[in-house]
Amino acid sequence: MPEAKNIGILLSGRGSNFVAIADNIDAGRIPGARIGVVISNRPEAPGIEIARRRGLDARVIPSKGKQREEHDREVVAVLREKQVELVCLAGYMRLLSAWFVQQFPNRVLNIHPALLPSFPGLEGQKQALEYGVKVSGCTVHFVDEQLDHGAIIVQKTVPVYDSDDEHTLADRILEQEHIAYSEAIKIVLEGNYEIVGRRVVRRPALKEVAFPPAM
Ligand code: GAR
Repeated sequence: MPEAKNIGILLSGRGSNFVAIADNIDAGRIPGARIGVVISNRPEAPGIEIARRRGLDARVIPSKGKQREEHDREVVAVLREKQVELVCLAGYMRLLSAWFVQQFPNRVLNIHPALLPSFPGLEGQKQALEYGVKVSGCTVHFVDEQLDHGAIIVQKTVPVYDSDDEHTLADRILEQEHIAYSEAIKIVLEGNYEIVGRRVVRRPALKEVAFPPAM
């Protein structure tokens, strides 16, 4: 068996996406993956305490008062020390510097609680609700040098109900986030895809597998 690939999780808060990924790895649903390190830029993030309790290498690297790249260099040093091959931003509320992104080309993933390119930035769920869309969802994408912008790996949709407020909608989206992130990690670690322009195209193309061309 090839050695497991180390994932580095970066978070700033609650950590429910991290927990879903960790649970899926423990259940064998993302073969060949292990969590090498969990890093928070906020000492008080509940997610980092959960990581500690799960026996994972959990580090706090405070970002407060630091220049973006100065902080990123500290984070990348730990990711390298832990031989991390894939970086997953899981509610990491800090923009990465271009320098960071260049250290891990097409090896940093992010999850966003809206159907990009709609509603990037903060509070994607609230933006969607206020805009009046009838469908929203979540997006897992590669991170590039622009905010919430890189090639899309997985999207999941949810309905928006008239009775929704931003919390009920966020909860419905979060359930899908917990599925989508692990699916995306599996796709990326398996490596059976190509990035064509902005498109992440799986090999063999999924349509051919599902629907062989009629004779
Ligand atoms: C998630 O909803 C995630 O999509 C969002 O923060 C939440 C983190 O929750 N991320 C962003 O808005 C990034 N732009 P979690 O800490 O429970 O995983």
